[in-house]
Amino acid sequence: MISGTSVKVTDVTSKCYRVANMSQAYVTLATNDGYAIGALVLGHSLRSNNTTRDLCIMITPTVSPSIKALLHGVFNKVISVDVLDSGDSAHLSLLKRPELGITFTKLHCWTLTEYSKCVFLDADMLCVQNPDELFSHPELTAVTDIGWPDCFNSGMFVFVPSRDTYAKLLRVAEEKGSFDGGDQGLLNTYFTDWHRISFVFNMVASATYTYLPAYKQFGVNAKLIHFLGSMKPWQHRYDVTSGSVQTPAGYHHLAPYLNSWWAIYIRLVQPGIPEMDIPRLLAVKSPLEDTKKMDISAIDSNEGRSHSYGHYYLRGGNEVAQQLAGLHLGQESIQEGLARWERGEPDYLGRDSFANIQAYIDSKLKSGK
Ligand code: UDP
Ligand code: GLC
Ligand code: MN
Repeated sequence: MISGTSVKVTDVTSKCYRVANMSQAYVTLATNDGYAIGALVLGHSLRSNNTTRDLCIMITPTVSPSIKALLHGVFNKVISVDVLDSGDSAHLSLLKRPELGITFTKLHCWTLTEYSKCVFLDADMLCVQNPDELFSHPELTAVTDIGWPDCFNSGMFVFVPSRDTYAKLLRVAEEKGSFDGGDQGLLNTYFTDWHRISFVFNMVASATYTYLPAYKQFGVNAKLIHFLGSMKPWQHRYDVTSGSVQTPAGYHHLAPYLNSWWAIYIRLVQPGIPEMDIPRLLAVKSPLEDTKKMDISAIDSNEGRSHSYGHYYLRGGNEVAQQLAGLHLGQESIQEGLARWERGEPDYLGRDSFANIQAYIDSKLKSGK
């Protein structure tokens, strides 16, 4: 069921931050440079909200050395771990996120026994107000999942590191597996008596429009924003001139939080990245790439309606792609264009620019077709 179960802790403590409570930490995970960039922004956002806790990141050898050096500047500990992978493609394709098997690597966080208590945070989160009160809650405290509220979302959880718990989790992984193929299914199987805490500690960004009145009422209290879903902040396109993110269809409601994410990235992260590496890092293999390998016929034909709901967030561009099926812009064939939309790679400044599409529609109207 799982591969790579040995833990290899090889690194290192950065001394650049002095914090009051070294026995408690926020912990995150990055297995590639894209998520590592996300973790850097998350780390800076926690620092700028004056957390008093340690910051710790677990990385795999696939994170490149230049990014690892930046991580040492923000995190107190950068710990190398082996990849754990559920290898459970059947459940993962139900989730439509084939890449998430690797999230089993999260389980290593229970081996961080130098800490008495920790809060795990996904690397696709952003801190907007100090969430340190989380440390006064017991294991396992978390927020309900918006897709299935009887479960907790494993993007944020309070836990107590323990070799014993780690061993038990691996045993459950071997014996029962995970009902979603990722860590969330496994953790919900193991921690059945979890403690629910307010949504403001793991506010899924799409809540801003899936339940706008509640967002208007309570959103002001949000502390941790979660960019859950296939398209992550670093995969959006940022316009330096206007200083704002160009949000594709289906993502406009995320603009304020994406802009906050990018403001931190531009000011505090990008200056540390060698200029020649920037395009490569921001073009890090998208999780959407993996969906190319999936059987399209297995996908709910109504997926357009649900593109912003939790796990079923997949491929917001698809709906738009269908609307654009009649378009043939530039030299690209319709099939090539559709495939590109499906990969989540619209060329907003080029072929798929609003001006181009408008011109095409105008020409059709004029010719009466
Ligand atoms: N993650 C990673 N590499 C991957 C996929 C996931 O390091 O290829 C880590 C990262 O910390 C990420 C977390 O696992 O935030 C959970 O994945 P993701 O946030 O993509 O899941 P979602 O919240 O969108 O369901
Ligand atoms: C969820 C969580 C994420 C977890 C994934 C796989 O959507 O947000 O943290 O890794 O499911 O179980
Ligand atoms: Mn996440």
